[in-house]
Amino acid sequence: TDLFLPERPNSRGWDLANATHLAEIEAARLPFRDTRFTAAPLLAGEPAAREPQPLPNPADPGDTVGEVRWSTPADVDTALAAAQPWDAAPEERARVLNGVADLYEEHHGEIFAIVAREAGKSLPDAVGELREAVDFLRYYAARIAELDAPPLGRVTCISPWNFPLAIFTGQIAAALAAGNAVLAKPAEQTPLIADLAVRLMHEAGVPRTAIQLLPGGGEIGAALTSDARVDGVTFTGSTETALKIRKAMAENLAPGAPLTAETGGLNAMIVDSTALAEQAVADVLTSAFQSAGQRCSALRCLYVQADVAPMFKEMLFGAMEELRLGDPWSLATDVGPLIDGEAHAAIKGYVDKARSEGRVLKELNATAGGHFLGPVVIGVSGIEAIEKEVFGPVLHLATFEADELDAVIDAVNARGFGLTFGLHTRIDSRVQHVVERVHAGNLYVNRNQIGAIVGSQPFGGEGLSGTGPKAGGPMYVRKMTRAEGAEKSQ
Ligand code: NAD
Ligand code: ALA
Repeated sequence: TDLFLPERPNSRGWDLANATHLAEIEAARLPFRDTRFTAAPLLAGEPAAREPQPLPNPADPGDTVGEVRWSTPADVDTALAAAQPWDAAPEERARVLNGVADLYEEHHGEIFAIVAREAGKSLPDAVGELREAVDFLRYYAARIAELDAPPLGRVTCISPWNFPLAIFTGQIAAALAAGNAVLAKPAEQTPLIADLAVRLMHEAGVPRTAIQLLPGGGEIGAALTSDARVDGVTFTGSTETALKIRKAMAENLAPGAPLTAETGGLNAMIVDSTALAEQAVADVLTSAFQSAGQRCSALRCLYVQADVAPMFKEMLFGAMEELRLGDPWSLATDVGPLIDGEAHAAIKGYVDKARSEGRVLKELNATAGGHFLGPVVIGVSGIEAIEKEVFGPVLHLATFEADELDAVIDAVNARGFGLTFGLHTRIDSRVQHVVERVHAGNLYVNRNQIGAIVGSQPFGGEGLSGTGPKAGGPMYVRKMTRAEGAEKSQ
């Protein structure tokens, strides 16, 4: 395969340290600072009439980002009745998907503005978001040449709000590359970027019968995963929702309809006493607090070897003081808002309880207005003490003795998740040992543990963290076909 030598280059993106690039980005996104965007069902038939509802900005209670007309159960029926697999020749599908990537890049100013205002994405995160979306389109288009089986038919794609363009696009691009008809349901928090994305897909030449958009919440997702006309489902979101979808599919869809699920994690990092502390501190900050910790890959439980723990904690807590919370539109911001009031209340409650129990080791104040929460470090005995994934800037910290390394790894494995794992050490044999013992889809050594590069770092977990195959990897598009064994491929 071309796993390590992709024949198509990844996008170059924008260099935010380059003043010319920055000025260009500012000029491109500024016209959209106050735009009221819209989203609505984009169907191959007539959508039901609905009143538009306002959509808030998580960073700024005074900003209405746009209006959305939510889908109805009748729209689900209309979409399923109108859906038609994309029967264009393989070269034509590849050409059109590359055309979508070009249109995304042309619309970068609008895209950066929407993801900042709708999802609270900082500019570096917004750039990463667009690059990954473009890379998925081009990488999956390149996989079309390898396909040797027909599409599944009608594929439902359900995505989360935390990568509202990249994951939304990646799921759809893979299903379309294989020639499926896609029914796309974005997260209810981020329909505006999804609406723009699907309009650009139509503009590039994807037929309206092959990609339809159904903005809505869990009830529309449930309808789209429990209708016998659906031939396969791609889902990214919480483990809890994935389990509901698996049950709905088993009860209602044809036997063998595949589910591709990418879900949550309880991700750990080990920093041993040989680690380069300055590097490890920087990587912990990025892993735990970038995107306000709202990444499936984010570090949740840091294990520091006991003999270096006092020094390491002092360095980490000092470095945290340098983090700047605030408006994601500003370049000075390191940590933006949580996605909504519900997430904020739940995570704040969790931190308040830890504080009342005397377990908060370090905490930054939140910015006023918007759903901001200061990054926080909570002391724990180990990962077994963490009840569940806390999807925000909350880092748990434990220490371990030199002879407890295997016990730490076994405790992490025992939780049943297996998404990302981080290791900071300068002992080569230890790297090999940990790689062999840990159950995780993506292992990061002496670097931060978030992010993945399409084509060279396929991303996805095992156990409760996902079904495979990995996104951005060579087997992903194949699972969108009827190829023998495709549903089991990693
Ligand atoms: P979520 O499970 O609440 O929602 C995800 C999507 O599922 C949304 O579109 C939602 O409307 C839909 N949904 C909700 N109930 C449904 C139902 N009964 N049937 C069908 N669809 C339903 O997750 P979220 O809060 O949007 O996203 C955060 C979660 O996603 C975290 O757990 C995170 O770890 C995970 N995530 C995983 C990856 C990965 O690649 N493994 C990437 C990003 C996010
Ligand atoms: N690949 C994405 C990340 O690691 C999900 O942040």
